[in-house]
Amino acid sequence: MTDPTEGIVLVTGSNRGLGLEMVRQLAPSARAVIATCRRPAEARELNALANAHPETVQVEKLEVTNTDQIDRLRSVVEEQYGALDLLLNNAGINGGGTADTFDTVEMETLVQTFRVNAAAPHLLTRALAPMLRSSAADGSSAVVNITSQLGSIANTKGRGTWQSYKASKAALNMLSRLEAHELRSDGVVVVAMHPGWVQTDMGGSNAHLTPEASVAGILDVVRSLTPQDAGRFLTHDGGELPW
Ligand SMILES: NC(=O)c1ccc[n+]([C@@H]2O[C@H](COP(=O)([O-])OP(=O)(O)OC[C@H]3O[C@@H](n4cnc5c(N)ncnc54)[C@H](OP(=O)(O)O)[C@@H]3O)[C@@H](O)[C@H]2O)c1
Repeated sequence: MTDPTEGIVLVTGSNRGLGLEMVRQLAPSARAVIATCRRPAEARELNALANAHPETVQVEKLEVTNTDQIDRLRSVVEEQYGALDLLLNNAGINGGGTADTFDTVEMETLVQTFRVNAAAPHLLTRALAPMLRSSAADGSSAVVNITSQLGSIANTKGRGTWQSYKASKAALNMLSRLEAHELRSDGVVVVAMHPGWVQTDMGGSNAHLTPEASVAGILDVVRSLTPQDAGRFLTHDGGELPW
């Protein structure tokens, strides 16, 4: 495979946390980084990155659950580039976090967490599939669904918190596998990837990894992907997790 991180890349949730760091690390070497977020006008750090890399970083509005905005973004990518080498489905929410237990979990939290963490990346991948296929025909392309080890059903032991989040990431894992099977014959490699426990708003300050280290690992794994990796549940350091 040629290196998809040097091509046209689209990142969701790129105004802070891991998404912002992805843009920071991709900007110097990618041909283009389409950096999406819900509120571009308020994305101060992202706009500063775009100003520092005006030929590469392009900020676009995307609330990932808004299918009209997905359609608009698809048109932008199609008209400007006609191809997409790497889709980083990064945007996510923690549902009710530690307060989300068997006794407290609510319908609205469950449904909204599924919408953002599972349904939205799946429909964005489908919308962009023609451009991913187009890149694959000329070399390679990949989709990385940023999931979590908390979505591993096999590793879930005993009672727990983060119930909506865990279930939504398990759903994302299944959708990743389905996307992998759907797109592999066209040369598009889809993987689910756990970024590690990372110091972001979601991960908190006690997390083990800096965003810099996590994203450097994620991009190294992307560079090493082969067609045989399609449908795997990987970690930022190249390990593999049980479903
Ligand atoms: N940090 C960790 O330890 C850890 C561990 C495992 C997995 N992950 C996963 O890594 C990914 C990034 O997490 P993070 O740690 O960087 O979290 P974060 O700091 O909370 O950032 C989340 C990002 O997602 C965006 N987002 C949320 N809902 C959105 C929506 N409906 N439409 C568009 N963007 C939306 C946020 O935008 P706004 O600013 O507009 O809210 C923000 O840019 C997530 O998928 C998360 O589940 C993180």
